[in-house]
Amino acid sequence: METSSTLNVQSQHVTIRSFTNEDIPEKVLSNILEAGRRAPTSSNMQAYSVIVVKDPAVKKELAVLAGNQKQIETCPVFLAFCADLHRLNKVCELHDVEMTNNLETFLVSTIDASLVGMSVQTGAESMGLGAVMIGAMRNHPGDVARLLGLPPHVYVTYGMCLGWPVKQNIPPQKPRLPKDIVIHNEQYNQTDPTDKIKSHDDELAQHYLALGKNLHSAAWSGVIARSLSGTMRPENLNILTGLGFNICQKP
Ligand SMILES: Cc1cc2nc3c(=O)[nH]c(=O)nc-3n(C[C@H](O)[C@H](O)[C@H](O)COP(=O)(O)O)c2cc1C
Repeated sequence: METSSTLNVQSQHVTIRSFTNEDIPEKVLSNILEAGRRAPTSSNMQAYSVIVVKDPAVKKELAVLAGNQKQIETCPVFLAFCADLHRLNKVCELHDVEMTNNLETFLVSTIDASLVGMSVQTGAESMGLGAVMIGAMRNHPGDVARLLGLPPHVYVTYGMCLGWPVKQNIPPQKPRLPKDIVIHNEQYNQTDPTDKIKSHDDELAQHYLALGKNLHSAAWSGVIARSLSGTMRPENLNILTGLGFNICQKP
């Protein structure tokens, strides 16, 4: 067997931002979440939580906190994937030990939340649903935590809008970087990737041109360079520390 229904779903992925008014049946949602809960988890710690948000008023506030991303309002279900050390802190209290709270536990919980979310997205897409991940939950992580009633040691790593795609608004697949600069055999291939990056710029420019969109002169690298030369949420070190993640703790 050279392919599978799962590989087909993964290969057809596109981010969906336009949803119909139709609800997601409870059974469909619970099946997707149950399958997502089978995701692998670091040392079986299960250091994540998922908050299912359907309340239009809460989704509206989340949309504002995410920079007015309308799809958070229009999707029937919003999922907040949280890195969660709260439960593990209880586990340590149960056994009279102090929980390690450092960069590693931050990474463990963030990775666990990310894996569950990715698994949920693939499951949802396999059911014909569309999804968009919302990293902008980290624009104001403190406000998001208050809005969703998060206890200490929990933050929303990213969110996800789920719903039925408006068929005529399903975008064509976005090109990806050439595979030989992202997949390496045995050792990292340190050949200068500049030419491949430029060819990706051209390919993405064609993609946007076909959609009638305004172009940056370097469609991929220009946008990425501009965003990486910015400050990239510098206040989040303090905010996440305030939420109970001791990212900077020295041993
Ligand atoms: C962690 C993460 C956060 C994202 N955050 C947002 C977001 O806040 N808003 C949005 O419209 N898309 C968001 N996206 C979707 C990406 O923009 C999208 O995956 C990327 O442009 C590639 O397009 P494709 O998924 O259609 O191939 C996010 C994706 C990931 C993985």
